Amino acid sequence: MSKKNTRRLCADCHGEVAGFFDKKMVHEPVARGQCTACHNPHASKHKGLIGTGKEELCYSCHKKDVLLKGRVVHQPVAEGLCLECHASHSSNNRGLLRAGVERLCFECHKIEDIRGKKFVHPEVKKGRCTTCHNPHGSTLDGLIVKKGVCTSCHDAGTKRLKGVHYGLNMKGARCLSCHSPHSSDNRGIIKANVHRPFAEGKCSVCHRPGSKELVQADYNMCLKCHEASIKSFYKRYSHLMAGRTGNFCAECHTPHASDQRALLSGREDKTCWQCHQDTEGFAHSARYVHPELRKCLDCHISHGSNTRYMLVAGDNTCSMEGCHPSQGRFTHPVGEDAIDPRSKEPMNCSTCHNPMGSPEEFILRAGKVMELCIKCHQI
Ligand code: HEC
Ligand code: HEC
Ligand code: HEC
Ligand code: HEC
Ligand code: HEC
Ligand code: HEC
Ligand code: HEC
Ligand code: HEC
Ligand code: HEC
Ligand code: HEC
Ligand code: HEC
Ligand code: HEC
Ligand code: HEC
Ligand code: HEC
Repeated sequence: MSKKNTRRLCADCHGEVAGFFDKKMVHEPVARGQCTACHNPHASKHKGLIGTGKEELCYSCHKKDVLLKGRVVHQPVAEGLCLECHASHSSNNRGLLRAGVERLCFECHKIEDIRGKKFVHPEVKKGRCTTCHNPHGSTLDGLIVKKGVCTSCHDAGTKRLKGVHYGLNMKGARCLSCHSPHSSDNRGIIKANVHRPFAEGKCSVCHRPGSKELVQADYNMCLKCHEASIKSFYKRYSHLMAGRTGNFCAECHTPHASDQRALLSGREDKTCWQCHQDTEGFAHSARYVHPELRKCLDCHISHGSNTRYMLVAGDNTCSMEGCHPSQGRFTHPVGEDAIDPRSKEPMNCSTCHNPMGSPEEFILRAGKVMELCIKCHQI
């Protein structure tokens, strides 16, 4: 990269350059007139005569691993869209941002999802999103800046906080087991859907009085009131994980409050992916996946089922009304009339397609021209 100061040369013809320097904050290489550190003055295959494409330009000076900080990467950053948030030359905003932090975040995130409810966390109300989130990447889910971010402002041991928390010191507890981080229609920003015994303050049906300790370590604690639920697990394929230590119901459900339906502990894909990390990795790296793959429960039953892969309608899952009702009738035969010569099982849609991901177009299990067909048909 050239460190030469070419500002005057360029400004001879590019009157707008003067405007770069009117702003409060000028990008350092621009301030130094190092125009050719980023631009190739003669020719380039990139828009704006940029020397290298998109994020590689930025990463040539800002180390990628320093910027990203961990396994969770903000999607626009992963896609190299630095200029969605940053100006290239200069800006009136801190951090060379194109707009204030709050306005920037709400260009992509719906304001009503974040603070459309009655009780709003004061930091969220003030639009200080980066108090809790790293805009680029983090080791923690949800791009959270650090562990214990909540207790960095709230001393959970004060008399007042212990008072509202039934005498408990919440230090070290997962605040999000009960609170929404942004806003809620419930007082104290308690998440939207509240488990009835929790709402009624009956902590002691599950906990020893005055303690976080549980009265019973395993899932039988839930069955005290949800006896019928266990039947939905007595199936050939099931999530019954009774052998695990602890309460496996609480891996998918929160016992207190949730912003999701059925008291799920997080958004459905996140709930499922806590354990199915292989599937997550596969889906993220696949070239093609089924649209709306994150809505796991559109296709899978959660507790248990007698059909393979716990699909909501077994072999007919793909041809459900509203999905692909005509496929299979007018296309390649499936079902009892078409027995897969390899497995001797009736063929279904996922014999040829894999909704969870594939390198092939139409999420096919092999190339559509021939590779796939000759798995069963001789030529
Ligand atoms: C002799 C006049 C002249 C000089 C000197 C000059 N340019 Fe240009 N530049 C032009 C013209 C004319 C265009 C094409 C019209 C336009 O898009 O403004 C252009 C286009 C560009 C573009 C592309 C704009 C776009 O929208 O794609 C960039 C970037 C650029 N110049 C940067 C520079 C830099 C950096 C320097 C200094 C090293 C420089 N120019 C020096 C005349 C000049
Ligand atoms: C979603 C918006 C967004 C995207 C996309 C984004 N940034 Fe940032 N970036 C920010 C914010 C917000 C800050 C913090 C500004 C502040 O408050 O000082 C920041 C700060 C920075 C800083 C200052 C030092 C630091 O680590 O905080 C650098 C350098 C930076 N960004 C580079 C990049 C590069 C390179 C890319 C593309 C790979 C990128 N950013 C993509 C929002 C974004
Ligand atoms: C030629 C080297 C170079 C390139 C290329 C470069 N930067 Fe910078 N950038 C710097 C230097 C030097 C600083 C000032 C020191 C620092 O903060 O790291 C800086 C600072 C920044 C800051 C922080 C401003 C602040 O102080 O808060 C942001 C944001 C930023 N750059 C974004 C980008 C983006 C986005 C790109 C790609 C379009 C990019 N940079 C490309 C050298 C570069
Ligand atoms: C250019 C569009 C864009 C901008 C600007 C943007 N985001 Fe995002 N953000 C996304 C996309 C796309 C996702 C992924 C959507 C998803 O997971 O459903 C995302 C996801 C997130 C997540 C969830 C990450 C996870 O892994 O759970 C957080 C937190 C977040 N953004 C915060 C912010 C903050 C804070 C800002 C402002 C500094 C911001 N975003 C600005 C597009 C954007
Ligand atoms: C008081 C801390 C805090 C502040 C301030 C904050 N967030 Fe969050 N945010 C969180 C936490 C905690 C999560 C949940 C992380 C997880 O997945 O475990 C979250 C999740 C998110 C998500 C992921 C989807 C969702 O709704 O769960 C987005 C997007 C997001 N925040 C955007 C924003 C934006 C935009 C702002 C600024 C207006 C903001 N946040 C301010 C703490 C905060
Ligand atoms: C930057 C400091 C800061 C951080 C970080 C922070 N808070 Fe707060 N929070 C406040 C302030 C200030 C108030 C208002 C005074 C009070 O109620 O203590 C508040 C209020 C609250 C309230 C009461 C709101 C109401 O309407 O009664 C809850 C609940 C809360 N915070 C939970 C959290 C959770 C959960 C986190 C982590 C995701 C968190 N806070 C992170 C500063 C912070
Ligand atoms: C229906 C049973 C049930 C009820 C009612 C209940 N809890 Fe819990 N609680 C649990 C289970 C199970 C766990 C451990 C699993 C988890 O953290 O999600 C837990 C965990 C906790 C934790 C530790 C959180 C953490 O992540 O570290 C606290 C604190 C807590 N409960 C407080 C309370 C309070 C206060 C009440 C009453 C207002 C209450 N609980 C009502 C079942 C319950
Ligand atoms: C077991 C559920 C539970 C957990 C876990 C929990 N809280 Fe709360 N929190 C509550 C309830 C219930 C209230 C009272 C809500 C109301 O006003 O009705 C409350 C109220 C608050 C308030 C408002 C205090 C006031 O004066 O009105 C703050 C602040 C707060 N919690 C912070 C936290 C922080 C920080 C954490 C994590 C360290 C946390 N809470 C963990 C259930 C919980
Ligand atoms: C003291 C009795 C009691 C205990 C113990 C109990 N629940 Fe519940 N649970 C209820 C009641 C009452 C409802 C509300 C039923 C309704 O609205 O139809 C409910 C509702 C639910 C729902 C459905 C929410 C919805 O939106 O459909 C789930 C999921 C749930 N509980 C999970 C659990 C889990 C997991 C445990 C063990 C950690 C547990 N429950 C322990 C009484 C209990
Ligand atoms: C693998 C994740 C997972 C596990 C483990 C799990 N659930 Fe569920 N549960 C779900 C999902 C997802 C739903 C919502 C189903 C829907 O709406 O399609 C649900 C729904 C429910 C409901 C409300 C609807 C109904 O079926 O009545 C109750 C009650 C319930 N679960 C209780 C339990 C109990 C008790 C346990 C432990 C014995 C448990 N769950 C274990 C994922 C799970
Ligand atoms: C459009 C329907 C559809 C959606 C949405 C969907 N799946 Fe699947 N999934 C399937 C089918 C069909 C199979 C069986 C594939 C086969 O036959 O190998 C499957 C297989 C699986 C398997 C077992 C085999 C494997 O690949 O590891 C897991 C685990 C799984 N899905 C989890 C999930 C999770 C988690 C989500 C949500 C993030 C999800 N699925 C969303 C249709 C779907
Ligand atoms: C607590 C960990 C855990 C969570 C959370 C979880 N799973 Fe599973 N899942 C498992 C285990 C373990 C198996 C293997 C069960 C077996 O083979 O007996 C499994 C098996 C499966 C299978 C394959 C069944 C088959 O026929 O081979 C599917 C599909 C599946 N899970 C989907 C989901 C979906 C969808 C969710 C979210 C609602 C989810 N899982 C959440 C642990 C989990
Ligand atoms: C014998 C292998 C095979 C079976 C079984 C199969 N497909 Fe396909 N499917 C294909 C091939 C090959 C293509 C690509 C066709 C093309 O190139 O247009 C395709 C394309 C599709 C498409 C996208 C193109 C379109 O027509 O909209 C859908 C949707 C589809 N299949 C659904 C299904 C469903 C639902 C089933 C089960 C009822 C099913 N497929 C069974 C091989 C198969
Ligand atoms: C998993 C094994 C399998 C694969 C892969 C497969 N087929 Fe078939 N195919 C069958 C079976 C079984 C039948 C029904 C019995 C028969 O006619 O041999 C069948 C029938 C057919 C028929 C006759 C349809 C009718 O209505 O009678 C045609 C044409 C056909 N396949 C073409 C293809 C093409 C083209 C491909 C590749 C896109 C393909 N098959 C991939 C197993 C397969």
